[in-house]
Amino acid sequence: MIVIIGATGTIGSALLERLVDLGVPARALSREPEKLRNQIGEKGRSTIEVASADASDPESLRRAFAGASQLFLAMSNSPRQIELETSIIQIAAEAGIKHIVKISSPAFEISSPVAVAGWHQEIEKVLSESGLIHTVLRPYAFMQNLLRLAPTITTQNVFFGSMGHSPCNFIDCRDIADVAAEVLINREVSGQVYTLTGSEIFSYPQIASQLSTLLNRRISYINMEPPVLLRNLMEHGHMPPWLANHVVEIQTMSTVVPESPNDTVKRLLGRAPRTLDAFLHEYVENFR
Ligand SMILES: NC(=O)c1ccc[n+]([C@@H]2O[C@H](COP(=O)([O-])OP(=O)(O)OC[C@H]3O[C@@H](n4cnc5c(N)ncnc54)[C@H](OP(=O)(O)O)[C@@H]3O)[C@@H](O)[C@H]2O)c1
Repeated sequence: MIVIIGATGTIGSALLERLVDLGVPARALSREPEKLRNQIGEKGRSTIEVASADASDPESLRRAFAGASQLFLAMSNSPRQIELETSIIQIAAEAGIKHIVKISSPAFEISSPVAVAGWHQEIEKVLSESGLIHTVLRPYAFMQNLLRLAPTITTQNVFFGSMGHSPCNFIDCRDIADVAAEVLINREVSGQVYTLTGSEIFSYPQIASQLSTLLNRRISYINMEPPVLLRNLMEHGHMPPWLANHVVEIQTMSTVVPESPNDTVKRLLGRAPRTLDAFLHEYVENFR
């Protein structure tokens, strides 16, 4: 049995859809099981079991892990992430789970720190010391993050950032989910660390230009100094300081460390990753 933590999240929900399509049984966890049942719908009910669990409640994890052999772990970022994921890994090992697939993030140079990447490195260390077979997926920025730019694009035809003209990797979460399904099902490719990207790099000005063409009106990217973006995210985006910091650190990093795509998705799935162009076409109405 495969247990899924993060089943209501961006990657986890796509993973569930993939497992349902493949007819692979799984136990999906949520702190809000009713919401998860509605998300799964009629199609998934015969293969997906829903269980209530909270990572801050060890007893709920013990119940949820009973009889399972594999665990998919995608946890939302929070200042408690190291503590919660460490507890999950320890309880999984005690419960007899053999293989964990963890969503991590790219490992960055120490000279340009990204705090959340540091949290993931700590958790990866816990995983390697656990003695469990573990597969680590390190995706770059999700294409789905771009949907968060929609409010100012729809109302003011602009979006903000501090990435300048630096080109970045973007990956569609559905490709991360497809890779996760593959490493859960195919033992030959499990037990490795995979850095995941799309097939091309894009800068924010290039995305503004693509959106302008798609929407048939001018969309502009406004570059800000990092401290200005930080203040903007906290005051207008209502982000807590740690999250606003994370966004600024990630964007600053892309101006310091050049990014380039790799062929990992293609090697693992035997097909090219989804493109940014296809993503923007699919979600164009969100930016209208
Ligand atoms: N966004 C990016 O561009 C990016 C890039 C690289 C890596 N990442 C990494 O991707 C991960 C997030 O993946 P995602 O976006 O798919 O997740 P997400 O959409 O943020 O969803 C997170 C999931 O975490 C679960 N969760 C949160 N607190 C929990 C708790 N106390 N107990 C049990 N479950 C809990 C939620 O489940 P319920 O609410 O249903 O309980 C939810 O399903 C992060 O670790 C992030 O660092 C993100």
